[in-house]
Amino acid sequence: MIPVSTVFKSTGRKSVLGSNETHDLTPSPSAMLLSLRNVGYTLQTALADIVDNSISANASRIDIGFNWSGKQSFISVSDNGDGMSEDRLLEAMRLGRNPQDPRQLSDLGRFGLGLKMASWSQCRSFTVRSRLDDGSRATLRWDIDHMLATDRWEALSDPRPGSEQLLLADSHYSTGTVVLWEALDVLDQSGILSASHVFWEATERVEKHLAMTFQIAHSFQMGDRVQPMTEGMAADLNRTAVVLLEVPAVEHARLPPPSWPESQWS
Ligand SMILES: Nc1ncnc2c1ncn2[C@@H]1O[C@H](COP(=O)(O)OP(=O)(O)O)[C@@H](O)[C@H]1O
Ligand SMILES: [Mg+2]
Repeated sequence: MIPVSTVFKSTGRKSVLGSNETHDLTPSPSAMLLSLRNVGYTLQTALADIVDNSISANASRIDIGFNWSGKQSFISVSDNGDGMSEDRLLEAMRLGRNPQDPRQLSDLGRFGLGLKMASWSQCRSFTVRSRLDDGSRATLRWDIDHMLATDRWEALSDPRPGSEQLLLADSHYSTGTVVLWEALDVLDQSGILSASHVFWEATERVEKHLAMTFQIAHSFQMGDRVQPMTEGMAADLNRTAVVLLEVPAVEHARLPPPSWPESQWS
């Protein structure tokens, strides 16, 4: 093997070791994002992260709406929790937070990643809309295609074109937060959007997983259409199913959080 020092001498390069040189290795947003999309979430574990945020925000009711409409299918999680101001929403959409910041003991979240990573693992565009009881409203969207095109961590303040009506239809509560997942490319690639019955089977897996994870009352309803049916569409296109979670006021609603290495942080 050629000694490293010989290599540096022969190429005339200066060894970085021991010198004061620094190198800016800021990750490329595009490359980073595509890696982050593949961190091993399933549909049910991803939705559990979104639901966990709703519970942490003191929601007593959480509706998970599944709307199957082939490649245009979408999923929304609507809660009646505390909601977020515009400033808080901006922080919520940022990747990462200081794990030493105060949090509720039972809060599964900690690193400021769940909302973004869970959503990116399933869809190309996700919008968060939050309403406070003073009537204010904030909206922010991460769009993978926009990020790839700009190579910037740049969120958008508008819903996807044409999706405002979905947000309105899915905002079931006067205060709280809606997370809307659109362009469900991962489900599409895995065949889950191929037929409505396959999609409904996936929603049943979600319901079972959430029931097991959070151990709270839940119900499953096949509901009415959210979008108007276009002419000639098969009868079961654009059908909606809703998993409704009712969170009891007591804090022990959830299983204990996984055992974090507390000593590392405290
Ligand atoms: N449904 C929600 N209602 C109110 N605030 C929320 C909701 N979802 C997310 N947030 C805010 O966004 C922040 C970031 O969420 P997330 O990315 O899941 O990271 P973490 O849960 O680790 O903080 C949360 O700490 C919370 O302040
Ligand atoms: Mg979280």
